[in-house]
Amino acid sequence: MPELCGISLAHRVINASGTYDAIAARQVFGDAVLEEFPFAAFVSKTITPEPRVGNAPRRIWETPAGMLNSIGLPNKGLAGFLEQDLPRLAELPVPLIVSVMATSRPEFAKLVEAVGARDEVAGIELNVSCPNVHSGLIVGEQPAETEALLETLRPLTAKPLIVKLTPNVADPAAVAVGAERGGADAVSLINTLKASAFDPATGTPALAAGHGGLSGPAVRPVAVQQLRAVTAAAGLPAIGMGGIASGVDAAEFLAAGATLVAVGTESFRDPKAGSRVAAELDLARPKEATAHSALDLE
Ligand SMILES: Cc1cc2nc3c(=O)[nH]c(=O)nc-3n(C[C@H](O)[C@H](O)[C@H](O)COP(=O)(O)O)c2cc1C
Repeated sequence: MPELCGISLAHRVINASGTYDAIAARQVFGDAVLEEFPFAAFVSKTITPEPRVGNAPRRIWETPAGMLNSIGLPNKGLAGFLEQDLPRLAELPVPLIVSVMATSRPEFAKLVEAVGARDEVAGIELNVSCPNVHSGLIVGEQPAETEALLETLRPLTAKPLIVKLTPNVADPAAVAVGAERGGADAVSLINTLKASAFDPATGTPALAAGHGGLSGPAVRPVAVQQLRAVTAAAGLPAIGMGGIASGVDAAEFLAAGATLVAVGTESFRDPKAGSRVAAELDLARPKEATAHSALDLE
């Protein structure tokens, strides 16, 4: 049975944070969602210390083989999450990983302590694509900032800490090594690639925020390369994601070094994509020798 940092999983496919609303899915489709839950673990949408309404619309825009989003992390905040969402997410038939983000180490610490204290939570994903209000630096773009954040958070919980890496850096492997030095248990990658589009009808930015993050099949080769680099440099297990839409895609990420894979944008097109990818993966995964010879062809 696959496992991640001591969390046992029925298969290797989980969801990418923010791309599958398990509470809404259950409201719409009923308990059938629980009976055939598409993922082996559930990662929550990122929560922040205080509630956020998110960005003004337009917040999503279709692109060739992908989409742009600038949702802006709308969420109920820590208290709202613990009171309203956690009890419902705890009813899911799979381990729960809660994604958290803050703009200072003390605020991150508050989130990790509160979420880590809950028995319903199996692990915590740290979304580090955020500025530190004190230094002005994006934490996940700086190996030293990432290491220092982990040093602050590591003593606060025994639960696995997974660092969600940003792809918007020259050397994601250096950031992964910083996370490892600070005491992270795993990394996940990639988050969305910074990107823009202009609406041809108006000549103005397609997203109200001006720019957003690119996801979907368009980013897959970038994700595979970053995954290779990160797993070669850091000794941590990695959750690979970025444009996975089939078992063949998932097998590619496993061949490149991932321990688990996550399905994101594809779930908008096919809400059952997680189970489909897991079933296809059983058939698609190459024998070890084949996977290595495929990588040697470069
Ligand atoms: C609409 C949307 C919302 C997202 N929200 C979050 C989020 O709250 N936290 C996070 O860490 N990543 C978020 N992501 C990034 C995904 O988790 C994932 O890293 C990225 O989309 C790449 O995977 P994909 O190409 O399979 O979608 C979001 C992506 C999309 C498309």
